[in-house]
Amino acid sequence: MAETAARPDLPAPARGGAPVLVASNRGPVSFTVGDDGGLSLKRGGGGLVSGLSAIGDTDAVWVCAALTEGDRTAARQAPSGRLDRAGHDTGGQSVRMLDIDPGTFARAYNGIANSTLWFVHHLLYNTPVAPDFDERFRKEWASYETYNAAFADALAEEAAEGAAVLVQDYHLTLVPGLLRERRPDLRIGHFSHTPWAPPDYYRMLPDDVAREVLTGILGADRAAFLTRRWADAFADCCEDVLGARVERPADGGDLRIVHGGRTTRIGVHGLGADADFLRERAHRPDVDSRLATLREAVGDRRVVVRVDRTELSKNIVRGLLAYRHLLRTRPEWHDRVVHVAFAYPSRHDLPEYREYTAAVQRIAREVNDEFGTEGWQPLILHVEDDFPRSLAAYRLADVALVNPIRDGMNLVAKEIPVVSDQGCALVLSREAGAHAELGEDAVTVNPYDVVATAEALHRALSMPASERTDRSKRLAAAATALPPQQWFLDQLAALRG
Ligand code: F6P
Repeated sequence: MAETAARPDLPAPARGGAPVLVASNRGPVSFTVGDDGGLSLKRGGGGLVSGLSAIGDTDAVWVCAALTEGDRTAARQAPSGRLDRAGHDTGGQSVRMLDIDPGTFARAYNGIANSTLWFVHHLLYNTPVAPDFDERFRKEWASYETYNAAFADALAEEAAEGAAVLVQDYHLTLVPGLLRERRPDLRIGHFSHTPWAPPDYYRMLPDDVAREVLTGILGADRAAFLTRRWADAFADCCEDVLGARVERPADGGDLRIVHGGRTTRIGVHGLGADADFLRERAHRPDVDSRLATLREAVGDRRVVVRVDRTELSKNIVRGLLAYRHLLRTRPEWHDRVVHVAFAYPSRHDLPEYREYTAAVQRIAREVNDEFGTEGWQPLILHVEDDFPRSLAAYRLADVALVNPIRDGMNLVAKEIPVVSDQGCALVLSREAGAHAELGEDAVTVNPYDVVATAEALHRALSMPASERTDRSKRLAAAATALPPQQWFLDQLAALRG
C-alpha cells in the first residue's frame, strides 16, 4: 500500500492529528462480554471497511458509537475511547468509539435515525396513522442533536489541520454543520447510503427539523449519494424547503447547492461489489460445506435466492407472496423449483421489525403447508445470520430476487451475479439504486405488484441458458465497475478537488 504522504489524493499528514477521518454510527469492530467478563472483538465487513483499506496503514481515525454493552466497556477502558491505544486490533486504522449515554443513544438511533429518517427516505409510513410528531419525538430529536454533537466534538479533537473528514449516513446528518462551526479548516464530506425522499414526502418532517437536516448536510464541502436519483431528490428538497439555488451543470458533473453564503457540491459514487474478495471468500471450505448442505436440500431443482437483512424496506413479504402466486398460477414449477430465502435479523429493538420478521416466518410456513410434498420443500427460510451460507446460496442461484420498496443501492443485487456458479437471472426492483446500473440486463419489477413479480420470476426461471449466461456476465461487469477501494479514493479526491 502507498504511504499517505506519497498520495496526491490524500491530504498531507499534519502534526497532532489524523489526515483522514471517517465517522459512522456503526464502527468496524464490536465487542461482546464473555461469561468470564472478558471482552471479545469481532471485525465487521461492508463497503466502508473495504473502502478504507485502500489508504492502507495511515493515520486514519474512524469515529463510531458504542452500540452494545461490550462496546461501552471497551470504550470506557480505552484512553479517550481510542481502542487502538488500548491494544485492540482494529484492522489498520485507529478507532475512537464514543460512549454516548445509552438513553440518548437509543432515542437518536431508534427514535430518529431508524424510525423517522429511515422511514421518510424509504417512504415507509402508513400515513393515515403515522407519523405523529409529538412531545416524545421532540425529546428524541434533542437526543439526536446531542449525539451528533458528540461526533462533531470527537472529530474536531482528532483531525489534523486541513484533514479530510468523511461523515456517513442519516444517523449523522447534523455533523457536517456542527463540525464546520468547530473546525472551519477541515474538508468535510457527507455520504448518504440510503435513498433520499422527494420533497412532497420529505416535507412531512416538522419544518424546523426538515431544515436542520438539510442545512446540517450542507455544512459539508461535498455531499454524495449512491445514484443521481437520490442526489437530485436531495437538491430538490434543498430548493423546496430551504429556497436554496441549485446549479445543474450540463456535463453531468457535480451539482452545486448555494445556500446561506456557501456552496456545497453534490456528487454521485455508485458503490460496487468487491469481486476479488467475494470470489475468493466464496470458495473457502466453510462455504463449500454449506453449499453441499443446500444442494442436498434443493436436489435437482431450479433455485430462486434472496438474501436480506429483515428491514421493512426490503419487501420480503411481497417477495414470498409473489413466489406463492407463481406456484398457484404456474403449476409446471411444482417440484421443479425451491426458493431459498435468508432474512437476517435487523433492528430488533423496533416492534415493527419484530412483527415484520414474524410475518415473513408465517407466510413461509403457509407456502410450505400449501405446496410442500414429502419429497419437496418449496421454500427454505433461514433467519439466523450466516455469511458463508449466504455465499453458498449466491453460488447456487439460478434466479436472484431483489425487490425492495426502495433502496439506496442494494449490494446483494450486485454480489449474486458476481458469485453465482452458473450465472443467474436477476429479478430487480426498479426502486433499488442498483437498478440504474443493472436495469438493462435485469428483469425489472414494480415492487408493489405481486402478480407482476410472480410473472418476472417465471420469466427469469424460463430464461434460456445462453441468455442467462450473457446477461449474468454483463451484470457482473456492471456490478464491479466501482469497487469499494476506488469508491472511497474517488470521494477523497473529489473532496479535495
Ligand atoms: O443498509 C443501508 C444502511 O443505511 C447502511 O448504510 C448502514 O450502515 C446501515 O443501513 C445501518 O444499519 P444498522 O442500523 O444495522 O447499523
